[in-house]
Amino acid sequence: MITFLLVLVMSLTDRGLAVNSKCEECHKKVTPEIVKDFNRGKMARSMTCADCHGDGHMSADDVDKVQLPTISTCEQCHEEQVKQYMSGKHALGPVEIKELAAEMRKQAHQ
Ligand code: HEC
Ligand code: HEC
Ligand code: HEC
Repeated sequence: MITFLLVLVMSLTDRGLAVNSKCEECHKKVTPEIVKDFNRGKMARSMTCADCHGDGHMSADDVDKVQLPTISTCEQCHEEQVKQYMSGKHALGPVEIKELAAEMRKQAHQ
């Protein structure tokens, strides 16, 4: 019975957790600061690396398959903050998403 439950729990959580622990395991070595930062934030309670970056990349040889989130990724959960941020901006680009994240982090810790 206990074995059955363990197998059930493992199969239910397999997709998210297995992918996530692989990302983190390797990235603890490759980009330790990013893993630390992510786990300090509240999003680590409900999100995994793959939620923003996809699970297409899994090794040093397929980094080109990784997804980088856009501002509309953040907007799905943070509509108000993104609207506020965008009202002061004109162009969308890969630099702004880091600014947005920094801005939101500042507000969260006020
Ligand atoms: C076996 C090791 C390994 C695993 C597993 C792994 N990565 Fe990576 N990842 C790397 C390496 C190596 C790089 C390139 C780092 C560099 O160039 O500084 C990288 C780069 C990245 C980048 C940056 C890409 C860019 O264009 O700057 C992101 C984002 C990323 N990985 C996310 C993930 C996610 C999400 C997962 C799990 C779904 C994952 N990684 C699994 C090794 C790994
Ligand atoms: C699937 C939903 C979801 C998505 C997508 C999402 N977030 Fe979050 N985010 C959350 C939740 C939940 C919290 C914790 C909420 C709280 O306590 O206010 C949070 C909190 C934050 C915080 C506050 C600091 C912290 O970590 O506790 C920042 C900064 C943040 N998100 C930035 C971003 C950025 C930038 C993006 C896009 C790249 C993004 N989020 C995408 C759900 C999401
Ligand atoms: C809430 C969404 C979100 C989650 C979850 C998330 N990231 Fe990211 N990540 C981003 C954003 C936004 C960037 C900046 C992308 C850009 O500059 O275009 C980024 C950039 C990166 C980079 C490249 C850094 C650089 O400056 O080139 C790596 C590596 C990375 N993330 C790894 C991870 C790993 C490993 C996890 C899980 C521990 C993770 N990310 C979880 C949103 C996220």
